[in-house]
Amino acid sequence: MRLGWLEVAGVAAATVASAKDLAYSPPFYPSPWSNGQGEWAEAYNRAVQFVSQLTLAEKVNLTTGTGWMQEHCVGETGSIPRLGFRGLCLQDSPLGVRDTDYVSAFPAGVNVAATWDKKLAYLRGEAMGQEHNGKGVDVQLGPVAGPLGRSPNGGRNWEGFSPDPVLTGALMAETIKGMQEAGIMACAKHFIGYEQEHFRQAPEAQGYGFDIDESVSSNIDDKTLHELYLWPFADAVRAGVASFMCSYNQINNSYGCSNSYTLNKLLKAELDFQGFVMSDWGAHHSGVGDALAGLDMSMPGDAVMGNGQTFWGTNLTIAVVNGTIPEWRLDDMAVRIMAAYYKVGRDRHQVPINFDSWTTDEYGYEHALVGQNYVKVNEKVDVRGNHAALIRQIGSSSIVLLKNEGALPLTGCEKFTAILGEDAGSAQGGANGCSDRGCDNGTLAMGWGSGTDNFPYLVTPEQAIQNEILSKGKGEVFAVTDNGNVDAIEQYASQATVSLVFVNADSGEGYINVDGNMGDRNNITVWQGADQVVKTATANCNNTILVIHGVGAVEAGEWNENPNITAIVWAGLPGQESGNSLVDVLYGRVNPGAKTPFTWGKDLDSYGTPLLMEPNNGKAAPQVDFTEGVFIDYRHFDKANETPVYEFGFGLSYTTFGYSSLYVQPIPTAPYGPASGQTKEAPSLGNYSTDYSDYLYPDNIDKIPLYIYPWLNSTDPKKASADPHYGLKTEDYVPEGATDGSPQSILPAGGGPGGNPGLYDEVYRVSAIITNTGKVLGDEVPQLYVSLGGPDDPKVVLRSFDRITLAPGQQFQWTTTLTRRDISNWDPASQNWFVSDYPKTVYVGSSSRKLPLQAPLPKLP
Ligand SMILES: *[C@@H]1O[C@H](CO)[C@@H](O)[C@H](O)[C@H]1NC(C)=O
Ligand SMILES: *[C@@H]1O[C@H](CO)[C@@H](O)[C@H](O)[C@H]1NC(C)=O
Ligand SMILES: *[C@@H]1O[C@H](CO)[C@@H](O)[C@H](O)[C@H]1NC(C)=O
Ligand SMILES: *[C@@H]1O[C@H](CO)[C@@H](O)[C@H](O)[C@H]1NC(C)=O
Ligand SMILES: *[C@@H]1O[C@H](CO)[C@@H](O)[C@H](O)[C@H]1NC(C)=O
Ligand SMILES: *[C@@H]1O[C@H](CO)[C@@H](O)[C@H](O)[C@H]1NC(C)=O
Ligand SMILES: *[C@@H]1O[C@H](CO)[C@@H](O)[C@H](O)[C@H]1NC(C)=O
Ligand SMILES: *[C@@H]1O[C@H](CO)[C@@H](O)[C@H](O)[C@H]1NC(C)=O
Ligand SMILES: *[C@@H]1O[C@H](CO)[C@@H](O)[C@H](O)[C@H]1NC(C)=O
Ligand SMILES: *[C@@H]1O[C@H](CO)[C@@H](O)[C@H](O)[C@H]1NC(C)=O
Repeated sequence: MRLGWLEVAGVAAATVASAKDLAYSPPFYPSPWSNGQGEWAEAYNRAVQFVSQLTLAEKVNLTTGTGWMQEHCVGETGSIPRLGFRGLCLQDSPLGVRDTDYVSAFPAGVNVAATWDKKLAYLRGEAMGQEHNGKGVDVQLGPVAGPLGRSPNGGRNWEGFSPDPVLTGALMAETIKGMQEAGIMACAKHFIGYEQEHFRQAPEAQGYGFDIDESVSSNIDDKTLHELYLWPFADAVRAGVASFMCSYNQINNSYGCSNSYTLNKLLKAELDFQGFVMSDWGAHHSGVGDALAGLDMSMPGDAVMGNGQTFWGTNLTIAVVNGTIPEWRLDDMAVRIMAAYYKVGRDRHQVPINFDSWTTDEYGYEHALVGQNYVKVNEKVDVRGNHAALIRQIGSSSIVLLKNEGALPLTGCEKFTAILGEDAGSAQGGANGCSDRGCDNGTLAMGWGSGTDNFPYLVTPEQAIQNEILSKGKGEVFAVTDNGNVDAIEQYASQATVSLVFVNADSGEGYINVDGNMGDRNNITVWQGADQVVKTATANCNNTILVIHGVGAVEAGEWNENPNITAIVWAGLPGQESGNSLVDVLYGRVNPGAKTPFTWGKDLDSYGTPLLMEPNNGKAAPQVDFTEGVFIDYRHFDKANETPVYEFGFGLSYTTFGYSSLYVQPIPTAPYGPASGQTKEAPSLGNYSTDYSDYLYPDNIDKIPLYIYPWLNSTDPKKASADPHYGLKTEDYVPEGATDGSPQSILPAGGGPGGNPGLYDEVYRVSAIITNTGKVLGDEVPQLYVSLGGPDDPKVVLRSFDRITLAPGQQFQWTTTLTRRDISNWDPASQNWFVSDYPKTVYVGSSSRKLPLQAPLPKLP
């Protein structure tokens, strides 16, 4: 019912917009064709060579998934049997190989952000890439920079890194490099403006009783898009990411995978992205429209997951033959996919797919959707290598010490240790007891949704703390993991030398509802009734140490004030080595060096960026206006003069650090100029027949029911398409200029990977001396912030950071650089970046609010 209408979604949205005065996304056509710039050159040439040998149907096969649950991976494209080219395997998730066994459960993205450690981000990316490669995966569906984290309760924030675009961008880039070094393709997602779970897909929202027909629209102005949400994606492109995933939501009332402004203009023209864009699962809404708007791959291939109909496949073949989609556009899709394939060396690294997403049994159906072909589907290949050590290290390196009144580190020889709270122990149903981790039982080490994988084991805090104390052979240790057992908690807390109290807060993806939370968190207080455990413990024990697991900030103001709470640590979502990582820090083997990658406000309201929890536009698309602009997280707190409980970038250590001797030196560079010139003409690779009988299903094929193929079952295209609207006049739905393959002007802000190359010129060198002024070895994260100086600019914005290790008394001269992008603003009028005349200041310190060093940035010549 929806399908025919959606075929013309691009035009319909425009009509609604002018009629109702809603935010509107301006068209940008034609879709830019790849050109093999920079480090893509060799891969591009090989891709052109490969695609030039393909028939039309074979090209279509590369672009279209075979359908939901029709093959082994969560998404698989068609194959090219004639050339021995198997379908590409696309698999979740950003923290490990989803839906299988003998894989590692890595710490979540938010923990990587808390490490502020580029090296660890790279190593995690590489380890995850190795595991995906070992299972036969071609594309790992991560990392995430959308959601960025506009609101602290956004359900999937933890899959990504931080609401700060520079921190996210740097770690995103390292993750991508690591993954692709391991020989698999990374996928930067979800592009763009995907900041809440509520209403991200109309059918899902209908399932929760919301009567809406269209997905939520994130209405974002051009300046905010460039200075905030697009920023980390530009870093992903510069890191050479192979693919992008467009998102479920709309941007200015045009769907993420139909939006020519975000895909054609921003991603492909301005950022000069050379890889391919795939749809999120179910985010593909129109056949011709989305192809022209810049989509390159339809996932999982069917229009509605499992319905056997497709916007592409058969329809894409027909649309090229009937002249609606120019052949060069299909060629470009295929070249982009194959260039990405060659760029990461898939031709050298690929191993057979040896697992199955739909069962962990050894035997299962080859085509699970239709229960066809019972075969061995799972070889149970153990791909974990020695990644446990890295996972433990990232876990301990991401533990943020928020408060410490001398209580930490512990010795393990405490006379009586009480471990209190459900979050310390194992879940009754086991660590994988709930599908896609869709519950909050026992200790929390992963959020829920498709951004998860199965634990191979989960070391609980209870287990690790017990081991620690037993190994010292001194104290007594008892755990109460039933939060309802107030008597036991009271009894143990009142006897304890130290009480370790565990609390958590969970969130996840919108298709699972946990305790009334439809992905997004309803509040930012703790779960499992844990606030009562804290109350009982602190009333009875004056040495209560709080351990917070979770997806982001929780209300911690009262705890911070409470004198009986002698220490607070945030351990995030640490993955399989949770308990081990924790005891390394609690018992002082690892000196905490993490910094909170988000702001801890006193409550949800203090962030000023509420999620939309009720539809606000009748049955039409709910509208979320990003009126706060770039002022999210600490930028908002600074602007509103709101004191956070813990500011962005804050984190304590068992030692102390001093900052001195800030030094700023301009680096001579050529002045910035707009990119100019013209692209080449769109290349057409090969020819094709316009006789529909050349595209009929081969006679000998054993057709799998509901499977997506590139072929036609009739020489009458209308019948073969089965689209009731087939044959609408093209001017009714093909946007102006969309089929034009002639040379196009290069955008002023374009011209290189991640945008105008001049943006990445280094224009200042900045150094400062950091000294370990305490008594133990420790890590510090020097942070560089800039004030751009204008009345509409945030007070400060993070621009550079590093994590360094210093021995007691050791001094280190930290040197970093600022690029032109770092000191620029976006000018919507000229559609380019510029350096404003406002006086600019550079700051260096240990958090967004502890900036002891500052100096003016001299004007650039
Ligand atoms: C959304 O609309 C705003 C306001 O007109 C405009 O600045 C921005 O470029 C638009 N963004 C997209 C993606 O259409
Ligand atoms: C398309 O892919 C399917 C699934 O792998 C395969 O059966 C079919 O032969 C392919 N078609 C062409 C034209 O290669
Ligand atoms: C072609 O697309 C239309 C929607 O635009 C859909 O109704 C039809 O089922 C598709 N055809 C095939 C063969 O999947
Ligand atoms: C061309 O084919 C596409 C895909 O089936 C269809 O949506 C469109 O209506 C056709 N256009 C014409 C002019 O026949
Ligand atoms: C998770 O906890 C809920 C609520 O206590 C319970 O109903 C459910 O059975 C538990 N599930 C598992 C797998 O432990
Ligand atoms: C916040 O949500 C959690 C999870 O649904 C719930 O356990 C808790 O009671 C809620 N907090 C308040 C104050 O309602
Ligand atoms: C702190 O703990 C002691 C027990 O050691 C208790 O007597 C006191 O009331 C507690 N204070 C608070 C503020 O809960
Ligand atoms: C904490 O309570 C213990 C006895 O329960 C007492 O010996 C100790 O002095 C108290 N510490 C503080 C800081 O009040
Ligand atoms: C494509 O071109 C080649 C070489 O000119 C020719 O042999 C072939 O018949 C053409 N194929 C089609 C489908 O037009
Ligand atoms: C041809 O395909 C269309 C669309 O999938 C379907 O509705 C129709 O039944 C098929 N016809 C035949 C003869 O298989």
